[in-house]
Amino acid sequence: MGMSKVKVLFVCLGNICRSPLAEGIFKKKVEEKGLADRFVIDSCGTSNYHIGEQPDRRTIKNALANGVRLNHQGRQFTVQDFNDFDYIVAMDSSNVQNIEKLRPVGSDKQIMLMRSFDEAGLNKDVPDPYYGVENGFQEVFDILDRSIEGLVNHVVLEKGL
Ligand code: 4NP
Repeated sequence: MGMSKVKVLFVCLGNICRSPLAEGIFKKKVEEKGLADRFVIDSCGTSNYHIGEQPDRRTIKNALANGVRLNHQGRQFTVQDFNDFDYIVAMDSSNVQNIEKLRPVGSDKQIMLMRSFDEAGLNKDVPDPYYGVENGFQEVFDILDRSIEGLVNHVVLEKGL
């Protein structure tokens, strides 16, 4: 009987900028801690805009410049994700609202806000860089890097890893 894996899902709107980057950063951090085999890590979007697509080229480029390689095919959040994942982490409050619309009857799963782990901007939205300027991508990287450091520590403590 093997130990069951901890399942973490990151959610944004398009699943081509913020949430695939969060997935990549979380993967890198747990690899560095030697905990990669204890996790299933995924990301998705609440919209259907970019299903099947790789992350935005600007996100891929900025991630690589920070030592994070991304490889993800866009997919849409589904009702099933409520049951499949232990942690569902949304990038902003509109993502939380969109997720809540799909909550199955009887589910009490907590939807977490990514920046509930960011002391430098507690519970603020992770800004959407899609229509913004180039340095918006580095700002998002720095926010996610701080937030995910806190999230990993939280999960490691809560799950006793
Ligand atoms: P993301 O950014 O939610 O961080 O992936 C967006 C990407 C695409 C769109 C919106 C947000 N879009 O409207 O196509």
